[in-house]
Amino acid sequence: MNFTLPTAEALRGALAGLLDGLPPKQAAQAVERLIASYRGTTPTGAPVLRDRSDVAAYAAYRMPATFEAVRSALAALRDAAPEWTPATHVDLGGGTGAATWAVAEAWEERAASTVLDWAEPALALGRELAEASGSPALRAATWQRSRIGPALRIESTDLVTISYVLKELTPADRVALVAEAARAAQAVVIVEPGTPDGYLRVIEARQQLIDAGLSVAAPCPHSGACPIVPGTDWCHFSARVSRSSLHRQVKGGSLPYEDEKFSYVAAVRDGADGPAAVPAANRVIRRPQIRKGMVLLELCAKPRELTRETVTKKHGDLYRAARDTDWGDAWPPPRPETA
Ligand SMILES: C[S@@+](CC[C@H](N)C(=O)[O-])C[C@H]1O[C@@H](n2cnc3c(N)ncnc32)[C@H](O)[C@@H]1O
Repeated sequence: MNFTLPTAEALRGALAGLLDGLPPKQAAQAVERLIASYRGTTPTGAPVLRDRSDVAAYAAYRMPATFEAVRSALAALRDAAPEWTPATHVDLGGGTGAATWAVAEAWEERAASTVLDWAEPALALGRELAEASGSPALRAATWQRSRIGPALRIESTDLVTISYVLKELTPADRVALVAEAARAAQAVVIVEPGTPDGYLRVIEARQQLIDAGLSVAAPCPHSGACPIVPGTDWCHFSARVSRSSLHRQVKGGSLPYEDEKFSYVAAVRDGADGPAAVPAANRVIRRPQIRKGMVLLELCAKPRELTRETVTKKHGDLYRAARDTDWGDAWPPPRPETA
């Protein structure tokens, strides 16, 4: 069998054929239309992704980045709950399936995924990309048309992902969506753009999940209130996205990569069936500053504070670990398993 883990590379491969046959000018126009729609008023009363060229533009322009952002959030959840593997997964507002690709990669194909979205062209393209992926889990995923709103009901599931969706919803639909995710799932992962307003939506959803009985597995070291004062700063992270030549053609620019900024929360239901999650002791919330003989870390720490740590050569192994530590990592790094 042609078995490929749905990695970023496999996704680039599946996307490569997408704009074939569409003249570059038309592809660029489709991207511009899409950007204008997203810059305009959201939520909209009807899908933004209306036809094949909209979804092709979305997939080429955004999917590699949303995939990497979700991938980072799932890596943090896996660090907090290393023993847990979801058997079932629902991707709400899943579009062309970026989060579903990330789930299939994170747990090596073990979760059966269902992707729900109200835009049929997005689901159709998602199905096609899944088919091209060579991944049995993606090929077996179910793609269903469904509208997010107060009437949304999903079956009980191990994991729900909600990736880059909250911005597109009315406040009431956002609350209904998070409530339904919290009711139905053992673990919920929500990812939004890493902007001040994306962070505020994540913080609101985080509180709603906590009020519904879940606890935060990542990025926060605790389930208490966020120590960041809204309006002064926002908690966000960065994921590096390699750009294929197709991606460069659609987005312009010549760099071989870009950095996708995102905010997220991963929360779990404590209890017998849920994942046993231990959040990081501290989370690195800025890119570490490496100076001569020292590394400066900005941390979110337990019980509820923002703090700075300077790790110098004198700290030996810890200094070496700090030099390898990245924005978004747990600090100190989890001890490697001893054989
Ligand atoms: C920015 S895209 C994100 C797609 C995908 N989750 C990702 O991370 O790439 C937002 C998705 O939410 C879907 N969406 C927005 N409002 C919706 C609603 N009321 N019901 C169902 N889907 C909705 C859109 O059709 C679109 O596919």
